[in-house]
Amino acid sequence: METSSDLNKPCPFNELEIDGIRQQFPILNRSTASGVPLAFLDNAASTQRPSSVIEAMEDCYIRYYANVHRGIHTLSEESTEAFEQSRQTIAQYINAADTKEIIFTSGATSSINLVARTWGDQNIGAEDVILTTIAEHHANIVPWQQLAGRTGCKIIFIPINADYTFDDQVVIDHLDRYQPKLFAFTAASNVLGTKTPVKRWVEWCEEQGIKTLIDASQLAPHEPLDTQSLNADFLVFGGHKMCGPTGIGILHGKRELLEEMPAFLGGGGMINRVTTTGFASAELPDKFEAGTPPIAEAIGLAAAAKFLNALDRERISKHESHLCQIADEGLRAMPGVEVIGPTHEQKGGIVSFSIRGVHAHDIAHELDQHGIAVRAGHHCTMPLHHYLKKTSTTRASFYLYNQVEEVSRFLEAVEKVQKRFSPSGRRRRKRNPG
Ligand SMILES: Cc1ncc(COP(=O)(O)O)c(C=O)c1O
Repeated sequence: METSSDLNKPCPFNELEIDGIRQQFPILNRSTASGVPLAFLDNAASTQRPSSVIEAMEDCYIRYYANVHRGIHTLSEESTEAFEQSRQTIAQYINAADTKEIIFTSGATSSINLVARTWGDQNIGAEDVILTTIAEHHANIVPWQQLAGRTGCKIIFIPINADYTFDDQVVIDHLDRYQPKLFAFTAASNVLGTKTPVKRWVEWCEEQGIKTLIDASQLAPHEPLDTQSLNADFLVFGGHKMCGPTGIGILHGKRELLEEMPAFLGGGGMINRVTTTGFASAELPDKFEAGTPPIAEAIGLAAAAKFLNALDRERISKHESHLCQIADEGLRAMPGVEVIGPTHEQKGGIVSFSIRGVHAHDIAHELDQHGIAVRAGHHCTMPLHHYLKKTSTTRASFYLYNQVEEVSRFLEAVEKVQKRFSPSGRRRRKRNPG
């Protein structure tokens, strides 16, 4: 385990290496509206894209774009080839057993909705329970609530400990007590940063015949994913949080499950045959990809996966963890500042916090004046905020291109906000003017 003295050790990436990475992200060179250099710490919402992703999409549009799968002409064949090659790249990125298990969707949200509307409608009844956690994004709550509205099933939420981690025994008790049909949980919370032991929890579910859905939105950008080793029934993530384009996401499902599931959206591309009286669905993966798919976006996502794979993922993870540790420990040392999340060893590169007496939106606005982009609000986790008795929090989230210098600027700016706005800061200033 690292200690605060590790902060003095050299960062897992040296500055030159980070500079090399940053040069591939043109947007990072810009300033904010206040004319200050940008420190982009809003990566849990969406990351930036390297030139290779932008160029791959541009290349598609400039050289060979056409609709896929349908045309018998050169451009359509080239587009189809690049599109299907992208599916293979993503299959390799997450070590899928079969390329047909990769379904292109428009994001993690639509992937979960797909499962709820197909597998859920087919398998869930009024007597059934869906288990999830209190730390989920709305994307992994609302589709199940909608399913409950259609079927009458129950949704049970696993609570978190006071230190913002999960207790294995509580999970075991919930699995035993409720015997859920599905356990849908996040691999890493987008607010607390808390990681869940995905493999272990999936194993327990498997022993009891409980299906699993992993929301890997906050893990896929940061760590290599091995779907064969994790062995979850479904796993979802979006492209825009891992250097890829918006409008593309992945549903990975076990082939036998996907084959049993009915089609979701109906239309072109997802059928084998249509008559005036009905239709027969296409084979996987087309069955779940009705209409014109996100072609350039799939190509861009594959470029993002290649970009990430070309880097040393373990060192990147350490680098993000290092930044997180500096931010986390720095915030905890400030009077009136509360970190909402476990200590850095238990989480990914996310630090959410509040300053006593200061609204999260005001903090984010003030930080923006210093060129620092963070997010404020409920982060699409209203049930979690309600559980924590908070209306909103401010979140800094780090990625591979962030620098120690940016974290230092962030901490200095937070300290200024704390001193200027919070009641304790104002009191201290009055006693000690100037
Ligand atoms: C944990 C988590 N799940 C799901 C989502 C939704 O992802 P998408 O934008 O790909 O639909 C997000 C996005 O913020 C997230 O952080």
